[in-house]
Amino acid sequence: MNQRETSSHRGVLSRYSALSVGVALLLVVSGCGARALDPAGPAAAAIADLWWVMFALSVIIFAGVMAALAFGIWGRRDDPEGRRERLGRHLVMIGGVLVPGLVILGLMAYNTYITVDLEEPDSTPVATVYVESHQWWWHVEYPDHDFATANEIHIPAGQPVTLRLHSSDVIHSFWVPELQGKRDMMPDHVGQIWLQADEPGTYRGQCAEFCGLQHAKMQFLVIAHEPAEFESWLEEQQTPPPDPVDDQALRGQQVFLESGCADCHTVRGTDAAGEVGPDLTNLASRRELGAGTLTNTRENLADWIIDSQRFKPGNLMPPVPMPDQDLQDLLAYLETLR
Ligand code: CUA
Repeated sequence: MNQRETSSHRGVLSRYSALSVGVALLLVVSGCGARALDPAGPAAAAIADLWWVMFALSVIIFAGVMAALAFGIWGRRDDPEGRRERLGRHLVMIGGVLVPGLVILGLMAYNTYITVDLEEPDSTPVATVYVESHQWWWHVEYPDHDFATANEIHIPAGQPVTLRLHSSDVIHSFWVPELQGKRDMMPDHVGQIWLQADEPGTYRGQCAEFCGLQHAKMQFLVIAHEPAEFESWLEEQQTPPPDPVDDQALRGQQVFLESGCADCHTVRGTDAAGEVGPDLTNLASRRELGAGTLTNTRENLADWIIDSQRFKPGNLMPPVPMPDQDLQDLLAYLETLR
């Protein structure tokens, strides 16, 4: 190898090293990684610990391999007594067989311990929530309390909740980076996982398995309340909203029941019992529309009703064109659904 080739190899090597370090740093600071590494519950905390141990080991091993590589490239070549060759053989046995074997066994043991430990929470779950994934939204049911909502999961802070997970169509994956690891949702099997948040707050969840055109817009929120607040939320949800008293909202209810909305959506306490789309009984209290697509404001809701395909092409809701007066009445009605 001549001088020029050697220096160009060195250039390529240092560029690759810089790139690897850059990619590693990028992963650490990227939004997704940062949220999983900023745990807000015991399960995510255990997973984050595992991640940091693996990351630290990778950094040490990477530095060791780079040092051996540098030694190979820039070390002395002459070896009259065969010492370098003996050292090389030892290095291959220790660094190439013994150390990787121990590291892999150690990590496997730690990983298995965490996985088994995470199967069950430390205390008995205080509620069960059934979550069914659809292309591309989340049906959320509280079977012990007989009501359903969508794209929002309310839980008590500091207490575990059991989630039963099922898919109505393709494989999706349930993931709340700050609270738990991922869990696939299968059409032919009801899976189980538990959630616990240390503090009251709102935590974003995202489908983590590519499930079609709008996979990215398949989000949900986990809202953790103080336990007493959660109990009263459960209670409130069991009573459907009363029929509107206001004339405009009353006309809006007729629009809702007569213009096709009720074929796909449920509003408990009315004749609307469609099961194709999300249950809308508490729509006005939700923070977002279309599984994280839009903020739940009057304007966004109007745009969504008229043509949701503009915001989420391929979703099952067809455009629902209607005279402006009907739309205003309908909005007035939907605002009463809390
Ligand atoms: Cu559902 Cu990706």
